Amino acid sequence: MFMKIVSRCCNYLNLFTAANRSNFSSVCLGILNMLDESKFDVHLKLWALRVPREFCKAATKLLNGHMLDRPRIKPITEDPTSEKTRYVILSEKVQNADLSDIPIQKLNELEKLCKIETVPYTLTLGYSYWGADHVLKQILPSGLEVPSSFETIVKYFVRHIAHLNITDELLPYKDVIAKVIYDKNHPRILTVVNKVGSIANEFRVPKFEILAGKPDMATEVKQYGATFKLDYGLVYWNSRLEHEHIRLVNKFNQGDIICDMFAGIGPFAIPAAQKGCLVYANDLNPESVRYLKINADVNKVNNHIHAYNLDARIFMSQLMTVPVGESEHVDSSLASSVKCNIQENIKENTQENNSENGHLECVDAHVAVKTKGSKNKRIKTSVSHNNKSWEHIDHVIMNLPASALQFLDVFRGLIQRKYWKGSLPWIHCYCFIRSNETQDSVVTEAESLLNAKIHEPVFHRVRDVAPNKAMYCLTFRLPEEACINEEISNCYK
Ligand SMILES: C[S@@+](CC[C@H](N)C(=O)[O-])C[C@H]1O[C@@H](n2cnc3c(N)ncnc32)[C@H](O)[C@@H]1O
Repeated sequence: MFMKIVSRCCNYLNLFTAANRSNFSSVCLGILNMLDESKFDVHLKLWALRVPREFCKAATKLLNGHMLDRPRIKPITEDPTSEKTRYVILSEKVQNADLSDIPIQKLNELEKLCKIETVPYTLTLGYSYWGADHVLKQILPSGLEVPSSFETIVKYFVRHIAHLNITDELLPYKDVIAKVIYDKNHPRILTVVNKVGSIANEFRVPKFEILAGKPDMATEVKQYGATFKLDYGLVYWNSRLEHEHIRLVNKFNQGDIICDMFAGIGPFAIPAAQKGCLVYANDLNPESVRYLKINADVNKVNNHIHAYNLDARIFMSQLMTVPVGESEHVDSSLASSVKCNIQENIKENTQENNSENGHLECVDAHVAVKTKGSKNKRIKTSVSHNNKSWEHIDHVIMNLPASALQFLDVFRGLIQRKYWKGSLPWIHCYCFIRSNETQDSVVTEAESLLNAKIHEPVFHRVRDVAPNKAMYCLTFRLPEEACINEEISNCYK
């Protein structure tokens, strides 16, 4: 079977190799190296009219509907025999030299206009003319689906990465497919990559092999007005989640406090911060946190984002830990929120970083805020936020669909009633539901992890990830029975 496919492929490419299974990969390399571009030439036998240069415009008006109509090919071209005349190339439908396919009245008008002459014209449409779809259809054995759609990632506005998902049956042709896609989209696309294997690592970063172009996966994408820098090979990114990111952020209000437990490079955190929310954003992958901080800076929201590089469980526990000393200051006036500005944020976070009371160490996203007198000093924007995370959080985002549910037990007894102000947070927990599972079974699992009943759970179907598997967002208000801790504790769990 393998040999049959290779042989058919070779025929298309006009090469024939006495290949066998053992030298299969070298055959594929051969296919790539010997891609014979001349084999894609199609010679169209046409007719053209030799028309004096100055009458070309008028002639084309008269011949409207009877000239060559092919994308990217101009129907008027130079006459190789004279500078005084040009060729008006006629449609493929005009098959006779007597031009009987064109209405006589038009021909009469044309003759009145100027002296014209009919000449045979051969147009060669070569490799450079045909699109990737056409070329790949010629190369790949019939019956194999041509990979026409690929995820394109804009690189620094003009550069791109094409991400192919090459199916098993197309794997023998991956190099030639990549070359054609590269050739046909260069310079719009600079790198062609293919995902290798399934995502097994905890950072959810796919492994890619570079098939064509530059071996560089640092890139930049834009979503709803925000810019995201990332290295496609080091961090998680999925452009297909764009609508979900917008949908959720649209639920937040200016001034809300958001906690993003699995923040990645910030596709929820950055737009939420742009909206005026204060965001505690965390990710276990240090590269994601590095890009999160870069993106906070690029989008000028570093005064609204605190970035952390922790396991989500530890992050959440520490975020809710009341620092030593805080309990002594607690009194009824705690009901009023604390106002702070960037500089105060920086000061507090520096203190937090230096503290030894077990409270959260923040890898702060304030990196780009310059100190007084520095060259690129930023305008000091006033932000009104209560940044005592143990006092209030409005929304918690948990986008790690494969296992986020398992993290729900972190909320058990997490909130200390004495310090908490206002309503309990909304939890937005992503999960996969397979065809043999139900929404009810997911809620039951969540309730057992929280050890409390969830009231009015809402499911939003995000997207289908496989024929029998869909990604959902389960939203609910954190139940009081699950999370309220009556005892004052200054230690994090
Ligand atoms: C599916 S991605 C979502 C990223 C981002 N929220 C988005 O929508 O693109 C999940 C993220 O969780 C991070 N992650 C995995 N395990 C984690 C853990 N135990 N604690 C914190 N982050 C974790 C991964 O590094 C990855 O960036």
